[in-house]
Amino acid sequence: MRRSFTLVDVLLVLALFSDVPWLIKGSSYCKRANSAAIRPHSVTITEFGAVGDGVTLNTKAFQNAIFYLNSFADKGGAKLFVPAGQWLTGSFDLISHLTLWLDKDAMILGSTNSDDWPVVDPLPSYGRGRELPGRRHRSLIYGCNLTDVVITGDNGTIDGQGSIWWNWFQTKTLNYTRPHLVELMNSTGIVISNLTFINSPFWTIHPVYCSQVIVQNVTIRAPLDSPNTDGIDPDSSDDVCIEDCYISTGDDIIAIKSGWDEYGISYARPCRNITIRRLVGQTRTSAGIAIGSEMSGGVSEVRAENIQFYNSSTGIRIKTSPGRGGYVRNIYISNITLTDVKIAIRFTGRYGEHPDEHYDPEALPIVERITIEDITGDNIEYAGILDGIEADSFLNICLSNITLNVTSKSPWNCSYIQGYSDSVSPETCEPLRESISPYYYSDCYHLSSHFLNSSNQNSGSWFLSW
Ligand SMILES: *[C@@H]1O[C@H](CO)[C@@H](O)[C@H](O)[C@H]1NC(C)=O
Ligand SMILES: *[C@@H]1O[C@H](CO)[C@@H](O)[C@H](O)[C@H]1NC(C)=O
Ligand SMILES: *[C@@H]1O[C@H](CO)[C@@H](O)[C@H](O)[C@H]1NC(C)=O
Ligand SMILES: *[C@@H]1O[C@H](CO)[C@@H](O)[C@H](O)[C@H]1NC(C)=O
Ligand SMILES: *[C@@H]1O[C@H](CO)[C@@H](O)[C@H](O)[C@H]1NC(C)=O
Ligand SMILES: *[C@@H]1O[C@H](CO)[C@@H](O)[C@H](O)[C@H]1NC(C)=O
Ligand SMILES: *[C@@H]1O[C@H](CO)[C@@H](O)[C@H](O)[C@H]1NC(C)=O
Ligand SMILES: *[C@@H]1O[C@H](CO)[C@@H](O)[C@H](O)[C@H]1NC(C)=O
Ligand SMILES: *[C@@H]1O[C@H](CO)[C@@H](O)[C@H](O)[C@H]1NC(C)=O
Ligand SMILES: *[C@@H]1O[C@H](CO)[C@@H](O)[C@H](O)[C@H]1NC(C)=O
Ligand SMILES: *[C@@H]1O[C@H](CO)[C@@H](O)[C@H](O)[C@H]1NC(C)=O
Ligand SMILES: *[C@@H]1O[C@H](CO)[C@@H](O)[C@H](O)[C@H]1NC(C)=O
Repeated sequence: MRRSFTLVDVLLVLALFSDVPWLIKGSSYCKRANSAAIRPHSVTITEFGAVGDGVTLNTKAFQNAIFYLNSFADKGGAKLFVPAGQWLTGSFDLISHLTLWLDKDAMILGSTNSDDWPVVDPLPSYGRGRELPGRRHRSLIYGCNLTDVVITGDNGTIDGQGSIWWNWFQTKTLNYTRPHLVELMNSTGIVISNLTFINSPFWTIHPVYCSQVIVQNVTIRAPLDSPNTDGIDPDSSDDVCIEDCYISTGDDIIAIKSGWDEYGISYARPCRNITIRRLVGQTRTSAGIAIGSEMSGGVSEVRAENIQFYNSSTGIRIKTSPGRGGYVRNIYISNITLTDVKIAIRFTGRYGEHPDEHYDPEALPIVERITIEDITGDNIEYAGILDGIEADSFLNICLSNITLNVTSKSPWNCSYIQGYSDSVSPETCEPLRESISPYYYSDCYHLSSHFLNSSNQNSGSWFLSW
């Protein structure tokens, strides 16, 4: 049973928070970062000689169209319209103030020739390609140093035709790290919406060093056994909002990252203010929401809610390792429904995987103020496998109102963690058994509407403490 609190308790809590601008009322929809959705100029890809037969390579047509549209960048921007058809292409570059629009039944197909995916420098926060030392293939749709870019349409499809890359990966015949389907780097004001993304060679959508990114109403699919086909990976980016998406892939559905070991530590660009809501997905081998394992620039202020994961290996996962440094803090995850999921919550303190031998094993990550509440699960094998790092406990882990139908006889297994819990079934592990009282509210990252008098708040209000 939930404990009841006196008015004095509640006032005490309000006093604790009174110097923090922590309660914002109102609509909780992703706010569009810019208003320039309507472009005064528009061209169609066929005007640049593109042929939508699925066979003709249209890389030059995309490049020429975008080069032409660059002259409208300071005149409100322009739209590149891709009509119904199968538009085979190699990698191409976007520009600022551009809308790439895929009509219904328009399909952009990634070339199956690796030469059509040029090789570029590794990310400075990774120091090398993620899967092979050295450089990496550039994404199919790429943009760097941009502002105000929209990738949208009437549910057209961007198909990476990744199976050839998965095969090169499995037969160890890659020369460079595989490309993403879409990568935006060092850019501001990105909207990706109303489209379907399938069969990415590697992670599907990768905003890195970006701010003000909206991903809304997209479908992402890849076979459940395809290697490393993560859905959306916000990486060293801030103000990212992901909502109303369906994602079914071969790796993490959402993975929040910020660089790798000594490279991520020295680049020092955190990932923060990430909102994820109204998401449905499955991943047979990986996690629904993952943080890490690359988190060396720090990850904070993540809010995830109203989510359903099914048929998945793990629901919520934090992955890190000695050598990573950085931090994962101020994470709030609520209202998640898990069905047929092996491990509901998993923390892995010794994930391993280092870019090279030069990482500092003394660089221990800080993991603290993680709140997980209002979770239900059916046909779950393990409720929680929560492993911190010896001499570096994960602190202030708060679990509240979690009800899981668990098959294992030892549903929780925890080491090197500390925290609190309330209304968790099956009963949580010993290090989390201390009950959440108002005195711990400042330890538990913004707990929670239902601990306070709910008549104070609108159901749509949300707590922010950054
Ligand atoms: C992005 O901007 C930086 C700094 O101006 C520059 O060095 C870099 O070449 C630019 N990258 C691209 C792809 O334009
Ligand atoms: C989602 O996208 C589809 C087309 O892909 C569109 O018909 C629908 O209106 C969109 N929904 C929202 C809420 O934007
Ligand atoms: C968009 O198309 C995909 C199939 O290509 C479909 O699964 C999805 O439901 C469609 N999305 C919307 C919002 O209509
Ligand atoms: C790797 O390089 C070799 C030699 O240049 C080339 O034949 C092969 O096609 C390349 N593999 C891939 C997947 O690009
Ligand atoms: C990002 O853009 C800024 C200028 O806006 C530039 O100074 C910096 O070098 C760029 N970084 C990268 C990685 O391109
Ligand atoms: C998605 O499509 C719907 C229906 O056309 C439209 O109302 C909405 O503004 C679009 N959303 C975005 C973010 O482009
Ligand atoms: C957090 O991100 C959202 C968009 O995802 C933005 O509207 C909001 O202003 C950001 N808040 C802060 C404090 O940066
Ligand atoms: C919880 O999430 C589900 C969608 O998964 C949504 O229908 C429901 O309204 C949410 N509940 C609350 C209290 O927000
Ligand atoms: C879950 O996975 C099993 C085995 O892979 C499959 O048979 C079943 O259809 C999946 N369930 C859903 C709802 O996709
Ligand atoms: C507990 O969580 C469930 C959803 O998982 C929600 O329906 C219920 O209202 C929550 N209980 C309290 C007391 O907040
Ligand atoms: C839990 O699982 C058992 C056995 O599968 C099932 O009979 C029961 O209805 C489930 N309970 C809930 C609350 O889902
Ligand atoms: C917990 O995990 C450790 C290490 O994986 C294992 O040795 C131990 O047996 C587990 N304890 C329980 C109760 O399952």
